[in-house]
Amino acid sequence: MSAVSSDTKSLAARATAVIPGGVNSGQRRVPGLEGLVVTATSGSTFTDSEGHTYTDYHSAFGPPLLGHNDPDVDGAVVNASSLTGVGVTRVEIELAERLVDAVPSLEKVLLTATGSEATFHALRLARTVTGRRHVIKFQGCYHGWHDSVAMNVISPAERVGGKDPLSQGILPEVLDATIVCRFNDADDVERALAEHDVAAIILEPIPHNIGTVLPKSGFLERLRELATKHGTILIFDEVITGFRHGLGGYQAVAGVTPDVTTLGKAMANGWPVSALGGKAELMDLFSTTPGQPAFFAGTFNGHPATTAAALATIDKLQREPVHEHVFALGERARTGLTALYERLGVRAVVSGFGSVFVTYFLEGPVESYDDLLRNDVDFFVGYRRELMKEGSFELPLNLKRSHFSYAHTDEDVDRLLVGTEAAVTRYLEQAT
Ligand SMILES: Cc1ncc(COP(=O)(O)O)c(C=O)c1O
Repeated sequence: MSAVSSDTKSLAARATAVIPGGVNSGQRRVPGLEGLVVTATSGSTFTDSEGHTYTDYHSAFGPPLLGHNDPDVDGAVVNASSLTGVGVTRVEIELAERLVDAVPSLEKVLLTATGSEATFHALRLARTVTGRRHVIKFQGCYHGWHDSVAMNVISPAERVGGKDPLSQGILPEVLDATIVCRFNDADDVERALAEHDVAAIILEPIPHNIGTVLPKSGFLERLRELATKHGTILIFDEVITGFRHGLGGYQAVAGVTPDVTTLGKAMANGWPVSALGGKAELMDLFSTTPGQPAFFAGTFNGHPATTAAALATIDKLQREPVHEHVFALGERARTGLTALYERLGVRAVVSGFGSVFVTYFLEGPVESYDDLLRNDVDFFVGYRRELMKEGSFELPLNLKRSHFSYAHTDEDVDRLLVGTEAAVTRYLEQAT
């Protein structure tokens, strides 16, 4: 960051004195932005301790689909009771009914607090029902911090094709039990299924943790066929795509129905709630049904406040033209950015879906993670740092996507395009 005031310096120093690294998620520590202290969020913006207000396209990795501090959602939270911790509440029943109505694969659903918990339970369920050991994930997909999936997301070139754990401390047996396949390569999956006893295939139907890599026509359908043929549980991790790309998730857009689905992030517009659901015969194996084998618990599961936030979010998504609005903004940005880079003579691939957009600096096509190894990382990160000076914030980290919310406007997009041109031009001048 540019020179900062003594107040910000002292806040940053206080943070690093008592919080390891000064942040509460490794993903929030961004090179060049050490010491960034956020003091307020509102609608499409956030403000830092230096008094800079940015139009926020990072959007906390995606939850505030309606915009920060949506009054309807936050009002529902304020009016909710605190935890009861026994039996069930009316809001939990209502939310489960609404989710089952909205998402094609859900016959029954359980609530958790974070996306990682949802994917953890989904994999445990798959191993319980199949009695098998292995799971397949894809290079570039992220499903949370737990051992079976914390590997092979944004891997360096030399580790693609092997195991690339995100952490030490993972048991080698757990690492061994995860097979990493190439996204959009169904033959790779078919080979893995033939060679191993595979309990589950888990994927982001659009791998948004590496920007936006769209599934090729027929890929998701082929996974569905292969999973059915091999008796393997197909899990769509819709923690990002659910709600954001439609109330029914991307599965409703693609017309492919997984066995189990995980949801999170935009589900309650920034309040911590997540869910997993699927066929009743699978979900009934959780220990919430007496005597069943897949243990399931969580003090904050179905918390009245976050459950009420999710219900209020669904209400608003159904009542107002949220998806039309954010999809139109996404289209306007992608079209404008494509024209801009053509005019500037910059080799770029503008990708995205609906409200999500990202520009890679490489020669297309982009079909799998290995294509993204060609991305010009310095350009990707460098112009985003310059963009902050224009008042727009896209996370300056390689391959990270940007988001529109209901609070963003056409004018925001136009300012983003003008700001991007200035930022790219400055970056290129400095780079030469
Ligand atoms: C697709 C996907 N699944 C799961 C997770 C984990 O969610 P959480 O960070 O809430 O544990 C994430 C988080 O970014 C995600 O993007």
